[in-house]
Amino acid sequence: MSLLRPRLRLFSALRNTSTQPTRRFATEARTLTSDHVRIVEVGPRDGLQNEKKSIPLEIKIQLIEKLAKTGVTTIEAGSFVPAKWVPQMASTGEILEHLIRSPPQSQHTIAYNYLVPNVKGLENLVKIMDAEGATAEMPGSPSKPATTTEISLFAAATEAFSRANTNCTIAESLERIKPIVELAKSRNIRVRGYVSVALGCPYEGPNVPPSKVAEITASLLEMGADEVSVADTTGMGTAPRTLELLRTLTAAGIANSDLALHFHDTYGQALVNTIVGLEHGIRIFDSSVGGLGGCPYSKGATGNVATEDLVHTLHSLGMHTGVNLEEMSKIGAWISNELGRANESRAGKATLARLEGSCQL
Ligand code: HMG
Ligand code: MG
Repeated sequence: MSLLRPRLRLFSALRNTSTQPTRRFATEARTLTSDHVRIVEVGPRDGLQNEKKSIPLEIKIQLIEKLAKTGVTTIEAGSFVPAKWVPQMASTGEILEHLIRSPPQSQHTIAYNYLVPNVKGLENLVKIMDAEGATAEMPGSPSKPATTTEISLFAAATEAFSRANTNCTIAESLERIKPIVELAKSRNIRVRGYVSVALGCPYEGPNVPPSKVAEITASLLEMGADEVSVADTTGMGTAPRTLELLRTLTAAGIANSDLALHFHDTYGQALVNTIVGLEHGIRIFDSSVGGLGGCPYSKGATGNVATEDLVHTLHSLGMHTGVNLEEMSKIGAWISNELGRANESRAGKATLARLEGSCQL
């Protein structure tokens, strides 16, 4: 496969995206240049949701404030799900309130994204925005940086995972999503979709049909999602199966600019699969500082690919992310320490060792 090509050809393939599929779903994707990658930092949501011990609100807010200074432009800040399903996310309303009142200082507009499982979740979010007099796009002022509020909704590519994660069938989950998108659009809120278990399901195994993933991705885009993040929830994806999935999505008429990739790193394949995605022309990737995370409905699955590792790899390939690796590495070490867990980012640990002057890494 193309990964075996000589290094220089790989670089040129990355710079000159050759895949230009027909944009059947002409959503208003943000401008993507061939050498710029947008990183969606999912640590405060995907990273923290599975932590057993209740994390103080101040730590969650500090994490978001620190991330806002690294150059990332999209941060998943929490989720409006019932506390009995994901107790760790119960403070999301307070996080939204805080981010509206005192958005962290940053050099650019940051999109804060919230996961919503149903229309009730979005109504709860909108209630807070209304109470605070906020709109989806808040212009900046000398004292407040500009922000946008966005949502993510999610469906799964297998019936078993759909039942475990959302207590309904795939068809019912898509029906549930329609009014969420309608309400979001009426409020000018940008919508991101997720398709979970795209490369393996903890209940149905690794052979999730790529055609099913394409069908659900297309449904979300047709409903009005602005982008869809195709998720390897379990980290079971391999390079050949990632390529097969991406080719199937392209053959279904789905434009690369409407897609993001979301890799968990259970088998250590996330970066390999990222490069497959890059070569195919994808320019939006999700990751979690310090490799935080896991999924409550996918036992044994580990966190997302660490943001530090992703940034290091992308920069080594000549891609631009706008993210400061050194700052991100400090945050990975800080939050891992706060949570009493190991820092899962190798690039993060190496960067810190270099900064501390203990070696020439
Ligand atoms: P359900 O129990 O069938 O919901 O759950 P229900 O509609 O029957 O309601 C039950 C109770 O919850 C009711 O209260 C509702 O009012 C309340 P009661 O009458 O018992 O007092 N309720 C709510 N409360 C607050 N916020 C809400 C809400 N909705 C209902 N939004 C439901 C169905 C979809 C809500 C549930 O299954 C759910 O929340 N699932 C989400 C679980 C989750 O958050 N999973 C992790 C995130 S997804 C993920 O990590 C994957 C991703 O990272 C990509 C990847 O890697 O694959 C995105
Ligand atoms: Mg995830």
